[in-house]
Amino acid sequence: MRGLEGKVAFVTGAGRGIGRAIALRLAEEGASVAVADLDDATARSTAAEIGARAIALRVDVTDSASVRAAVAEAEQRLGPIDILVNNAGWDKAEPFVQSTEATWDKVLAINLRGPIACTRAVLDGMIARGRGKIVSISSDAGRVGSSGEAVYSGAKAGIIGFSKTLARELARYHINVNVVCPGPTNTPLFQEVAGGNTKLADALKRAIPFGRLGEPEDLAAAVAFLASEDADFITGQTLSVSGGLTMA
Ligand SMILES: NC(=O)c1ccc[n+]([C@@H]2O[C@H](COP(=O)([O-])OP(=O)(O)OC[C@H]3O[C@@H](n4cnc5c(N)ncnc54)[C@H](O)[C@@H]3O)[C@@H](O)[C@H]2O)c1
Repeated sequence: MRGLEGKVAFVTGAGRGIGRAIALRLAEEGASVAVADLDDATARSTAAEIGARAIALRVDVTDSASVRAAVAEAEQRLGPIDILVNNAGWDKAEPFVQSTEATWDKVLAINLRGPIACTRAVLDGMIARGRGKIVSISSDAGRVGSSGEAVYSGAKAGIIGFSKTLARELARYHINVNVVCPGPTNTPLFQEVAGGNTKLADALKRAIPFGRLGEPEDLAAAVAFLASEDADFITGQTLSVSGGLTMA
């Protein structure tokens, strides 16, 4: 894979879990990274792990003004954004009939409206420069469904449709738009959603052909590839990184 020397990346939800691994990997490939998270303490700790080429930014992806301010600060301190990674996400596992409208709104705001707002905030610059890579983290739940995650699955499927349309609209500006779908991945969110249910993790491991949960680094590798020049001719695609749990 060709490296990312001189590129600037903006990664949401990069304080912990998959986003943190993505930020570390993009930096390892040579990019400068804006580590953006609602939790500024974890954002600072990821940025500190990376060192001089990273900055920590507090952002709430559900708030367009916060997103615009964070993007402006990243561009002022690091330079024009070449790579956007829409990673911030959230879920609460429960049967749909037990879920409240407040939960629907929160799930849709973080997982669907958030990536839309972040994408909008970086696009004028990418279009003017005639280049850019946008990678959004959806979920296999958005491709094949997942019991207890109905609205989340809808939001994640929404990201796939949004990305395919943008890929078509933006190809003329040499902007690539792709989606990575994690399967069950060992992160703080997974631990929260599984609620300490070790039987669930064991059952998943048995169902996954590779026999283990995903690790954040597995996802980071796929994102680094799609963010690189090696993926210049790949757009509108949805890549599952799930150890074979889902295929096709
Ligand atoms: N872990 C899994 O099994 C799994 C499976 C499929 C998809 N995903 C997706 O992968 C992505 C990363 O998940 P993770 O497991 O690393 O989660 P995580 O909870 O461990 O990390 C998510 C990060 O997003 C941040 N965040 C939450 N709301 C935010 C907001 N409004 N604005 C900015 N930042 C916000 C959190 O502070 C946190 O640092 C999410 O989009 C998630 O839906 C995860």
